[in-house]
Amino acid sequence: MPGIVIVGSQWGDEGKGKATDQLGDRVDLCVRYSGGNNAGHTIIVGGEKYVMHLLPSGILNPGVTPILGNGVVIDLDVLYTELDELAARGAEVSHPLISANAHVITEFHRTIDKVTERFLGKAKIGTTGRGVGPAYSDKVNRIGIRIQDLFDESILRRKVEASLEQKNHMLVKVYNRRAIDPDEVTDKLLSFADRLRPHVADTSRVINEALDADKVVLFEGAQAHHLDVDHGTYPYVTSSNPVAAGACVGAGVGPTRIDRVVGIAKAYTTRVGSGPFPTELFDADGDRLREAGGEFGATTGRPRRCGWFDALVVEAATRGNAFTDIFLTKLDCLTGWEQIPVCVGYEVNGTRHDVMPYSQTDFHHATPVYEYLDGWTEDISECRSFEELPAATQRYVNRLQELISCRISGIGVGPGREQSIMLHDLL
Ligand code: IMP
Repeated sequence: MPGIVIVGSQWGDEGKGKATDQLGDRVDLCVRYSGGNNAGHTIIVGGEKYVMHLLPSGILNPGVTPILGNGVVIDLDVLYTELDELAARGAEVSHPLISANAHVITEFHRTIDKVTERFLGKAKIGTTGRGVGPAYSDKVNRIGIRIQDLFDESILRRKVEASLEQKNHMLVKVYNRRAIDPDEVTDKLLSFADRLRPHVADTSRVINEALDADKVVLFEGAQAHHLDVDHGTYPYVTSSNPVAAGACVGAGVGPTRIDRVVGIAKAYTTRVGSGPFPTELFDADGDRLREAGGEFGATTGRPRRCGWFDALVVEAATRGNAFTDIFLTKLDCLTGWEQIPVCVGYEVNGTRHDVMPYSQTDFHHATPVYEYLDGWTEDISECRSFEELPAATQRYVNRLQELISCRISGIGVGPGREQSIMLHDLL
């Protein structure tokens, strides 16, 4: 032990790297357990900015073993593009391990992601278009292709053919696209096999043995609680389980292996893609938040939808993940407002809700009930202790802590690694 999971508490892009930075050199294994290259982790090392979509953030720390667990879906083109780019920039990259049971995203998954979104029209999910959903669909349909299949050509050929048979009918007859050649797909996958082999391992065993040896294992979440396929705002979700429990399934460890669950909450709220978002701002205030926070997607470059902090959303995540700590990020981006609204309840057709309603119909019709807290104008980016924060900022943090029923252990006050205030150690 210890095992520590980091999970987004809203709709993603909370700045999970901030908490990872705090753990720094103390981490031995850094494991991604869900999602694929739909994520976007921005890491700044030695003044250099790196954006990783698939690789775990630990890749840039030579002392860390980065792992892609069985729960991840892997686009091998992206994997090797990311590794090669890092190498080309002279980054010291550690040796990643990849679960033999992880599933593969192929060209046909990307194609299907895009055509189905187009067909949904107004009802589209707003996916990242990376083929993540179709790859998970195949996994659950038991027609997926796993990393280990690349080491047995005849099995691989059969699996690709089986997987494409039905899809090609759909592509041609429904979507009016050309059929995909199974041999081309197979050959492309096989071309990765030699390079892949030294990285492939029984990662569940590796992780469990590391925990037995008292190593620090960081389970790095991508996406967030409210994008979880079971617990999020379905169907406007991703196709995996980013919640803390997903770390057990997606990495192959039992629940008793997890000691700390750190929820990451942005000091306001953002969302990309479609789906309900009660505190969303459609006016100049939304633009102001977007500008202050640089809220443009790291993966797709899309402008993020912005709104005030919604305590009900984060409180639901606190419960669903049993957060032991919250890391509040981007507090500095709220500097300069006279008053800052915080959503403390919803009105739905004349009924007041103090917790997130389970009914999607109610949530879609929720009007936020705001409490207005005093803002601050002082630059807080150089503050390194809670006491240095202006009184109004302290009150904002304390009120959020009360509302979300979890202690706030860290606060981000700027993009730099050192621009954090730690109230409690995360290990
Ligand atoms: P998919 O994961 O590409 O299937 O997209 C499904 C939904 O999850 C869309 O609304 C995406 O915008 C959203 N999504 C996926 N990954 C992320 C992320 O890392 N941050 C924020 N939203 C994401």
